[in-house]
Amino acid sequence: MKPFPEIGVLKGNYAPVLAEMDAPDLVVTGDMPEALSGTLYRNGPNPMFPPLGEKHHWFLGEGMVHGIHVEGGRASYRNRWVHTEQYEAQRKAGRRLVGTGFGEPRAPGGEELRNNVANTNIVWHGGKLLALDEGSSPVAMDPVTLETAGSWTFEGKYKGAMTAHPKIDPETGEMLFFAYMADGPGSKTIAYNVVGADGRVTRSEKFEAPYCTMMHDFITTDEHVIFPLFPATIDVDRIMQGGPVIAWDPDTPSMIGIMRRDGAVEDMRWFEGDPCYVYHPMNAYTVREGGHTKVIADVMKYSRVPLFPDANGARPPSDLSSEQGLLVRWTFDLDGNTNSYSEEVLSDLRGEFPRLDERFAGLGYRHGYYASMARPEAEAASYDVLVHIDLETGKKTEWDAGAGNTVLEPVFVPRAPGSAEGDGYLVTAIYRRETNLSDFAVFDASDVGAGPLALAHLPVRIPHGFHGNWRPA
Ligand SMILES: [Fe+2]
Repeated sequence: MKPFPEIGVLKGNYAPVLAEMDAPDLVVTGDMPEALSGTLYRNGPNPMFPPLGEKHHWFLGEGMVHGIHVEGGRASYRNRWVHTEQYEAQRKAGRRLVGTGFGEPRAPGGEELRNNVANTNIVWHGGKLLALDEGSSPVAMDPVTLETAGSWTFEGKYKGAMTAHPKIDPETGEMLFFAYMADGPGSKTIAYNVVGADGRVTRSEKFEAPYCTMMHDFITTDEHVIFPLFPATIDVDRIMQGGPVIAWDPDTPSMIGIMRRDGAVEDMRWFEGDPCYVYHPMNAYTVREGGHTKVIADVMKYSRVPLFPDANGARPPSDLSSEQGLLVRWTFDLDGNTNSYSEEVLSDLRGEFPRLDERFAGLGYRHGYYASMARPEAEAASYDVLVHIDLETGKKTEWDAGAGNTVLEPVFVPRAPGSAEGDGYLVTAIYRRETNLSDFAVFDASDVGAGPLALAHLPVRIPHGFHGNWRPA
């Protein structure tokens, strides 16, 4: 076996952690709120073996889930790989069978394996903890032991893939999700599903999108569903000719499909905009203005898809430090006579991982949170600033973790179930290069600039990964 190569997304805190552990009592410093009770789950790519060949993409490492449990001022930690079929087969073989490059052929012995890394998000819904990637079924895990229970197909009612970014309606408790390439690789078919608060599928439909693309996320409001397509296209002809699997294709416009939640997929209205890319929206909501129904969507926009090459081979993949997302507000007039939409810049401080107080998901809201990168030139650079933006006043509050330190996506936790929007905590983890360890960190969400209220010191680091969510105890 060859060692892990010295490439950008395997260096520093991008490198995988190759141990699983339990730390029952973490050293807690500062003032851990007594009322903070629950678990922060984090997911991210953590390749279990070095890449097969020269290709390696950050998105294709096997998922590892980290859980930090907090209760009564105490904190504990546990991490486990997600035991997908791919993971189990490779652990048994003692080597990599499925490559970590897009379009890479399997190693001998891995030909029959389905791609499933479950490395992107981890969501609690309907009594299940689900590890998600966007290309396969969710994988259920035990919320306490983090033991993998197996692929979850909603009692056999939906066996397809699921976006890593389902949306949970705070009023109905429903989970809405989609999957792209629902009729196979390269297909334009999108599956759309709704799951009741009890975990049962209540709606399952398919529709044809204008083109096939890496469709990472979508947005829902209390009245509408928004399916955004950006030109990181997946073109079978291009792939057959030896071109990249996913590529920036600026001859293709952005297409945003909007349908009523109580309507039919056939009634989808498509809006068209300049080519751009959005990995993550912050939120969206429906308003009435001057007799018109409008959808307002706040998203982190890039001028080009990061991490992927040009379709014509002109430029290699950019990395996350070459361009950060720009928080913009798009307005779609559903009663207007144009299929274009307007854009307003919300923040001159660029970033990624936009979040909100999710009790306001799909509703009018005021407070947003994200991560920004103050030191893009640093070795193995990642996000090192936490940002709170008050969307009513435009005021931003920042906390800079300092040189050599980085932060993960901020997750909002309400102070109490009935507390006002934004009254609560931001939880994340801070990686410190000096010690090569991470701290679980709790901030007052209304005073991010004051720095963490409390830290729980982990005996390990949490690699730069993707997403996390809080499950209240
Ligand atoms: Fe994501």
